[in-house]
Amino acid sequence: MEILSLLLLGGVVGVNAQQAPLTEDSRCGCYLMKGNETAYFKEHRFFDFRNHHHHASVPPVITEVKDTSDAPITSPFFNSTEWTDFWMISNWNNSHGIREDSTLLMVNSPNNVYLEANHDADSSPKSWLSLRTERLQKFQTTAEIESLSAKFKFVSIRMLARTIGARGAITAMFTYRHSEDYYQVQESDLEIRTSDPKNVIHCTNQPSLDSEGDVEVRASKNATMPNGLEWSDWAVHRLDWTPRSTTWYVNDIQVANIEFQTPKDVSNIILNAWSDGGEWTGNMTVGESAYLQLQWFEILYNTTEPEKRQEQGQGVCHSVCSVDGSPEVGRPVMLWSNGGGRGAGVFTGWVPVMMATVLFLLA
Ligand SMILES: *[C@@H]1O[C@H](CO)[C@@H](O)[C@H](O)[C@H]1NC(C)=O
Ligand SMILES: *[C@@H]1O[C@H](CO)[C@@H](O)[C@H](O)[C@H]1NC(C)=O
Ligand SMILES: *[C@@H]1O[C@H](CO)[C@@H](O)[C@H](O)[C@H]1NC(C)=O
Ligand SMILES: *[C@@H]1O[C@H](CO)[C@@H](O)[C@H](O)[C@H]1NC(C)=O
Ligand SMILES: *[C@@H]1O[C@H](CO)[C@@H](O)[C@H](O)[C@H]1NC(C)=O
Ligand SMILES: *[C@@H]1O[C@H](CO)[C@@H](O)[C@H](O)[C@H]1NC(C)=O
Repeated sequence: MEILSLLLLGGVVGVNAQQAPLTEDSRCGCYLMKGNETAYFKEHRFFDFRNHHHHASVPPVITEVKDTSDAPITSPFFNSTEWTDFWMISNWNNSHGIREDSTLLMVNSPNNVYLEANHDADSSPKSWLSLRTERLQKFQTTAEIESLSAKFKFVSIRMLARTIGARGAITAMFTYRHSEDYYQVQESDLEIRTSDPKNVIHCTNQPSLDSEGDVEVRASKNATMPNGLEWSDWAVHRLDWTPRSTTWYVNDIQVANIEFQTPKDVSNIILNAWSDGGEWTGNMTVGESAYLQLQWFEILYNTTEPEKRQEQGQGVCHSVCSVDGSPEVGRPVMLWSNGGGRGAGVFTGWVPVMMATVLFLLA
């Protein structure tokens, strides 16, 4: 009703849906996210792997277990503060029985996380980030990056990515809160099984099994890639973990929404490419490999109070930005600023402020 009357008001005062101006993160007090659940986030990070061809090279696979976990990073980029203040590269193995059904040693390696140049000179991007998993005779060499902080509470994570390669692997982007007790794990997953049909992706709020060990149908959804896309195509995969539910999108089209078991507590963010010869991953043929490749990764994190009192210029964050609908991926646009905050006064007065919000949410 409020929205309707605002729309009418908008018609009366003749406010147009202008493109909000591009701005910088340093000028944003918070970010209004447009999606199934609207949310305000405090923080934004963008990792761009598209122009790192100078630091790119594909490292040969290491075939010794010990050298695999002890491998050095593959590019100075992974020594940069931009990377190290957010991400860690895993080197753990599954010999401590992490998954009951695994039949194979898997070993994470920094050697499987690398920047790769696009050798097709006629097409963009110039480079991407690759997470590689390959089946060796005695073990599976795998890749994982994990956020340094385990204290994300609600996020919108997005990646322009594709999965390519052999059957028998999983690639994934997820939130994770560890527990020794399977039923206490909190986790929202986007997973791709390379053995699946190429239009199926898996969306799950773990645990996926009920207390009897049977599949809990409310916990997951086998979603379909929209518009004839396949997971081997470049597409923006997005997972919004919000207080009420988790919502998955591909190229901004909602493909799943699950309220059941929505994580409640602070969590890590993880991306990986792996296989352990278990039921879920299957076995990869020796000598074959699969890859999760990313052109960029973007995250909005830590929700703030909704800007309930924006109309009176009393919001908790003075300048409200958004990354949805920005003409330049990774860069926010300024929706409104109440002045006196970090942002410049873009909209002043309560009518344009509310109109901008309404038009933004409806767009
Ligand atoms: C959110 O998703 C649910 C489930 O698909 C749907 O019923 C609801 O209409 C969606 N809400 C919005 C605002 O899109
Ligand atoms: C990363 O930094 C470490 C410690 O300073 C150094 O030993 C290593 O050579 C660096 N690696 C790369 C690839 O730049
Ligand atoms: C797996 O990692 C543990 C340390 O977490 C190490 O003690 C063990 O030797 C590793 N196993 C193999 C097979 O490399
Ligand atoms: C999110 O907010 C909580 C509570 O203020 C804070 O403890 C945590 O460090 C923040 N998370 C990140 C990743 O900064
Ligand atoms: C979902 O996908 C999994 C793995 O591909 C399959 O085993 C399961 O039967 C599917 N579930 C449904 C409901 O289609
Ligand atoms: C994978 O191969 C092992 C034998 O190496 C076998 O025990 C296991 O059942 C296979 N897993 C699947 C899912 O086929």
